[in-house]
Amino acid sequence: MSATGRLQLAATVPGARLLGLGSLQPDRVVTNDELAARVDTNDEWIRSRVGIESRRIAEKDALLVEMAAEAGVRALKDSGVDPAEVDTVIVATCTMPDPIPNAAAQVAHRIGIPAPAAFDLNTACSGFSYGLAVAADLVRAGTSSSVLVIGAEKLSDWMDWTDRSTCIIFADGAGAAVVGPALDAASVGVGPVAWGSAGDQYQTIRVNPETRALHQEGQAVFRWATTKVAPVALRAIELAGLTPADIDVFVPHQANLRIVEAVAKRLRQKGAREDMRVADDIVHSGNTSSASIPLAMDHMRAEGRLRSGEIALLVGFGAGLSYAAQVVVCP
Ligand code: UT7
Repeated sequence: MSATGRLQLAATVPGARLLGLGSLQPDRVVTNDELAARVDTNDEWIRSRVGIESRRIAEKDALLVEMAAEAGVRALKDSGVDPAEVDTVIVATCTMPDPIPNAAAQVAHRIGIPAPAAFDLNTACSGFSYGLAVAADLVRAGTSSSVLVIGAEKLSDWMDWTDRSTCIIFADGAGAAVVGPALDAASVGVGPVAWGSAGDQYQTIRVNPETRALHQEGQAVFRWATTKVAPVALRAIELAGLTPADIDVFVPHQANLRIVEAVAKRLRQKGAREDMRVADDIVHSGNTSSASIPLAMDHMRAEGRLRSGEIALLVGFGAGLSYAAQVVVCP
């Protein structure tokens, strides 16, 4: 502990780093053809406009907290951190069935983490990046020493399955990361966050109060994402003291493959390398909101497309509207 004025503060550390990753998807694969049997759509439209070939949808009685806990268990195992060492659990989600109680305390209990600080965070599709930013600052400030950050969504509970503009996009899943201290400057692995919001556009993605289903003004959000996300990503690179050419892997929120490609193109115009790998996890996972970034990272790692020590650029964006980006060193 260090003394500042009359109050003691926790001893700070130089920064934070990612120690492990884990994810979980429901077993059930839902193809575009299956959706085309329910609503007026087709495989070609979905592939060409959104980039999705199939997605995972949870069973009706599956719980979001179950998916979140399993992703958390896998991330802890990957990191080598014992559940008893975790002092903080953050669950980023916008699809809990009810507002009370929160997900984080239940998830911690299911994992067997004793009495951690546990809270939910709702910035929808930017939730994982927000959670990671908060976790890194808690660690750096000495408030926490081992933080489990989970993005988990059961969007299928909030779909109007007759609305072809949304039910073909969204899906279920959970992804998690363990964040711990970097004890010297050379091992800092989570860069400063570039974040913000555009509350004037709050109505573009929201739950319809009458139907209780997610409603999205797709074109307005598409325009916003393709113009506003790249500058946020570039700002995160600058805050980390890097240049676009330093980025090995780009993992944006998997909202729409056309948005992913448009932002990657903009980054390349600003100096990102042609061989920068770009996450395309949406193809088989759909848009899983706050889970999409850690899911994509975990899948890319399993495929050998994201390796330990590489520099990854993460950027989340979505309802709020809200956005957050940071550069990380892959665990
Ligand atoms: O994750 C949170 C952030 N969210 C996003 O970033 C999503 C951003 N938006 C999008 O990704 C796209 O706007 C959508 C995928 C939602 C929609 O794609 P779009 O290319 O913007 O389509 P659109 O809404 O402009 O619709 C074009 C046409 C319309 O028909 P008309 O009016 O031109 O006759 C739609 O009715 O496509 C029609 N349409 C469909 N047709 C076949 C809309 N959905 C479908 C569908 N199948 N599923």
